[in-house]
Amino acid sequence: MIYAEASPNIALIKYWGKKESTSDQDRNIGVNPSLSMTLKKAKTFVNVTPLPSSHRHEILINGQFAKDEDQKKILVHIKRIEDHFKSTHPNGAGFLKIDSKNNFPASAGIASSASSFAALTIAICSAIIGKSETAKLLAHHPETLSTLARRGSGSAARSVCGGFMRWDTTHAESLYLSWPLLDTIVMLSDAPKNISSSEGHRRALTSPYFAERQKNLPRRIDDVLQALKNKNLNLLGPLIETEALEMHHIAETSLPRVNYLNEDAKKLIRAIQELPHRNFYFTIDAGPNLHLISEEPIVDSVKDLLKNLNIQAEIWEDGLGTGPSLE
Ligand code: PMV
Repeated sequence: MIYAEASPNIALIKYWGKKESTSDQDRNIGVNPSLSMTLKKAKTFVNVTPLPSSHRHEILINGQFAKDEDQKKILVHIKRIEDHFKSTHPNGAGFLKIDSKNNFPASAGIASSASSFAALTIAICSAIIGKSETAKLLAHHPETLSTLARRGSGSAARSVCGGFMRWDTTHAESLYLSWPLLDTIVMLSDAPKNISSSEGHRRALTSPYFAERQKNLPRRIDDVLQALKNKNLNLLGPLIETEALEMHHIAETSLPRVNYLNEDAKKLIRAIQELPHRNFYFTIDAGPNLHLISEEPIVDSVKDLLKNLNIQAEIWEDGLGTGPSLE
């Protein structure tokens, strides 16, 4: 029995638009580097049990048999990890019962595919090469796990370690920075997004602003890195807000356009930007939910703000996490 868990990450610099790939090896590589913060409380938990050879793989997601589309993605992922280790472990994983659960809503702007593919990669590797070898990879060569996780879902590359990560080309690497930022997630909707992020990535390249974004990014990435190193929230905040709004602008100007923000999200963004004093800043992934980044707890003031705006939302308090675990 193998148990692995991993947390989603929230991108401070977004992966939005992929390079064209020619094989499975180079799938899901962002046009630009991205930077992220791995969360702590939101998690995917994966239990893997070997099945007798008379069985087939059995895949459960949140207690239900996986939908065909999800099942296919996971079967492909098992095969790609088996292929990666086939010279040293030709027997592969055998048949597995995979039971994957999230403690947060999927497809709602909290990157469930990131934590799912990170945890799955760690658990499937363990089924092939053993727990202790996988634990060594996690500790000393997370780039191997990051590369494999990325091929399952791009942003999963950044969920194989805790803390802040930089992902450029094949895999993500830890920035070895420790700044215990909080992420107060305002769940304006837990409905799955109507356009998948894969489709959003494809369409992003059609936006007339995509090329200009690529020109702006190197400077913004340097500035975000500087702000993280100096633990300067007043420098970081405006950069991540500009970045999130730019990603959504690219989505909204893609062909066909993609709208992830709803009216409540737009109202909340406006109200936050008009606050006279701020100790938190927002970022938003491919969904309407806002991630409010702060150094100190802000739940009470966020609740007041939502009440004044007459917006109903669940609030999820999270923060910087230490990365996956394996038992
Ligand atoms: O990994 P994907 O294909 O779900 O793409 C994630 C895209 C964003 O969450 C919007 C941005 C990011 O860098 O995580």
